[in-house]
Amino acid sequence: MLSRFAKRSFSSTAAANYKVSVLGAAGGIGQPLSLLLKLNHRVTSLSLYDIRGAKGVAADISHVPTNSKVEGFTPEDEEGLKKTLTGTDVVLIPAGVPRKPGMTRDDLFNINASIVRDLASSVADYAPNAAVLVISNPVNSTVPIVREVFKQKGVYNKNKLFGVTTLDVLRASRFLSEVVGTDPTTERVNVVGGHSGLTIVPLLSGTKHKNIPQEARDALIHRIQFGGDEVVQAKNGTGSATLSMAQAGARFAGAVFKGLDGEKDVIEPSFVESPLYASEGIDFFASQVTLGPNGVEKIHGLGELAGYEEELVNVAKETLKKNIIKGQEFITKAK
Ligand code: NAD
Ligand code: LMR
Repeated sequence: MLSRFAKRSFSSTAAANYKVSVLGAAGGIGQPLSLLLKLNHRVTSLSLYDIRGAKGVAADISHVPTNSKVEGFTPEDEEGLKKTLTGTDVVLIPAGVPRKPGMTRDDLFNINASIVRDLASSVADYAPNAAVLVISNPVNSTVPIVREVFKQKGVYNKNKLFGVTTLDVLRASRFLSEVVGTDPTTERVNVVGGHSGLTIVPLLSGTKHKNIPQEARDALIHRIQFGGDEVVQAKNGTGSATLSMAQAGARFAGAVFKGLDGEKDVIEPSFVESPLYASEGIDFFASQVTLGPNGVEKIHGLGELAGYEEELVNVAKETLKKNIIKGQEFITKAK
């Protein structure tokens, strides 16, 4: 059998062959995310898992004429998770319940923490070297949960665990462009911290728009921090962002594939185990990350911050620390 390297070097394009698994693939995010992954030519095998409905989604998506095999598994399949995960290079996890109006992401902890814990345990068993992209909320706590499960199983690699915060980055580009009247596709905003309310810190001072009047700037920051609530309210009890999240997840996964492929300067913000505030007991923090063949290649500092941004980061750190410890202790203090 040809090694991946050999297959790559014989190919006329630079694209490699990646097996990708989506856990929670029949949900509001899972379905469009799986479709977008089917359209990515770097994906040659797509394995869809859900407690219900994954086979239908897989059959449907499998008719899209791109060069990948699609399979669907549910708990009814003997060793369904093993079949889903074996040989996987990148796992995306959007399994879990979404918010309803009036809820915070932390309110999802009681249900989603155990869903993520159990799925992480299977990933550790069957795909211990895969890059793991966690979408399930509360991301600030579910990512530490995955770390602890992996540690207990002796397979933790800090360079391969990511909380997906890309939706905050998409929103920041879009909302900023609405304020300053530009093309959103040309706007890049670094969003740091975590993924919930005040832990989301867009660094507008790093964009070319440094003179937005304070009132408009504060309103813009608030909209980016609470953009998820706009969707939750508009969906009125039927869920939270799914389509924009699918686009965000596909974009981040695409960047991970490029990094694995050895492309240079692939940089995206992500919530990763980070040295930036580790001395303050904050083990995870979202910032720009350079992605490479082994996952995280470099974690970037925040750069020079405006005074108001330093304040926002300080506020974010307070909640983040609690969220991270809550996730960690869910595993380490489990009876
Ligand atoms: P959804 O209810 O539409 O879909 C969730 C899917 O997960 C369902 O199909 C369900 O059957 C499946 N599931 C539940 N338990 C499972 C298990 N043990 N194994 C496999 N599959 C399982 O919800 P959604 O709108 O797709 O949202 C999913 C999660 O993503 C929520 O927690 C939501 O808060 C989060 N989310 C995160 C972001 C982000 O930026 N990171 C953005 C939007 C939503
Ligand atoms: C989002 O930012 O849209 C997601 O985290 C879902 C939510 O609960 O808002």
